[in-house]
Amino acid sequence: MIINIREKVLDEIRINDSGYVSGEEIGQKLGITRAAVWKHVKSLKSSGYCIDSSSKKGYRLTGSGDILNTVEIGHDLKTDFMGKEIIYFKEIDSTNLYAKKNASKCREGTTIIADFQNAGRGRLGRSWTSSEGKGIWMSLVLKPEIEPGAAQIITIGAAVAVTESIFECFGIKTGIKWPNDIILDGRKLCGILTEMSSEIDRIDYIIVGIGINVNQEEIDFPAEIRNIAVSLKSHVQDSQCTDNFNRAKLLKEILYQFEDIYIKIINGKANDITDLWKKYSVTIGSRISVNTAKGIFEGVATNLTHEGRLVVKCNDGSIREFNSGEVSIRGIMGY
Ligand code: BTN
Repeated sequence: MIINIREKVLDEIRINDSGYVSGEEIGQKLGITRAAVWKHVKSLKSSGYCIDSSSKKGYRLTGSGDILNTVEIGHDLKTDFMGKEIIYFKEIDSTNLYAKKNASKCREGTTIIADFQNAGRGRLGRSWTSSEGKGIWMSLVLKPEIEPGAAQIITIGAAVAVTESIFECFGIKTGIKWPNDIILDGRKLCGILTEMSSEIDRIDYIIVGIGINVNQEEIDFPAEIRNIAVSLKSHVQDSQCTDNFNRAKLLKEILYQFEDIYIKIINGKANDITDLWKKYSVTIGSRISVNTAKGIFEGVATNLTHEGRLVVKCNDGSIREFNSGEVSIRGIMGY
């Protein structure tokens, strides 16, 4: 991660977040003039940082609102390798596309983040609306030494990590619709697009792309998805809480939770993850309709296998297992 002087000034102010630090002190530490410190403070303020400046006492950070950038994510990140390398874009076509093109150069855990995607991609060839500055649009580059056939469990693990992180950060309970949609108020809050490059017995890389609607108001969603999409903010819109949710906080928690889950998976403890997934599932026990290339199957979802396949007791009495790849499901009675 490259830290420039402006970010170092921010760090100096942040270290003293219980009190003020003078421009002179910062200048001396960083080898720049007080005027230069002031210039960087002005630039930080224009990016959204709330910095109180007093001619007698100096500077004090009073808030960082909802800023999502490399510095905010790097600050207090508790992981060993997940997100230790961040590649941040103000705007990009798709973080998954970038990750795929550059995966061979990326080390394990590299995380691509964008404030805006102009060609966000969803599952089954769909597009993904990624409004500017309102969501988390991220892709993780993974290089696990597991069988390609076992990779589906990584998506399952990502869904668990997002669900647990949202609760840990904001106390909001969400559910998981198989395999990887996070549901709130019966609408879609988050989608996960996992893409893999592999040989018969070896994975080159897996890209886990996570899109979370965080601070959109209902009106921010395009009309065609307004009644099926939800954000954390639109969920609480009717309550008193009007502040934006802090995306950096949530993103760091996801990296932390997912690292733990990922380590369990590569150490052969996938069962722990499928058990958690079942705890949050809104699919198990529901009547569903599974749309596959071979046709539509209706029945009741009864279980999740340790490899992440959905087990369905079909209306004709047969028990079938489905992979997430090319399948979409619909709850017959809603989610
Ligand atoms: C879905 O269809 O449910 C999956 C949506 C995945 C969206 C995320 S946003 C970050 C990453 N980059 C993309 O282009 N897509 C994924």
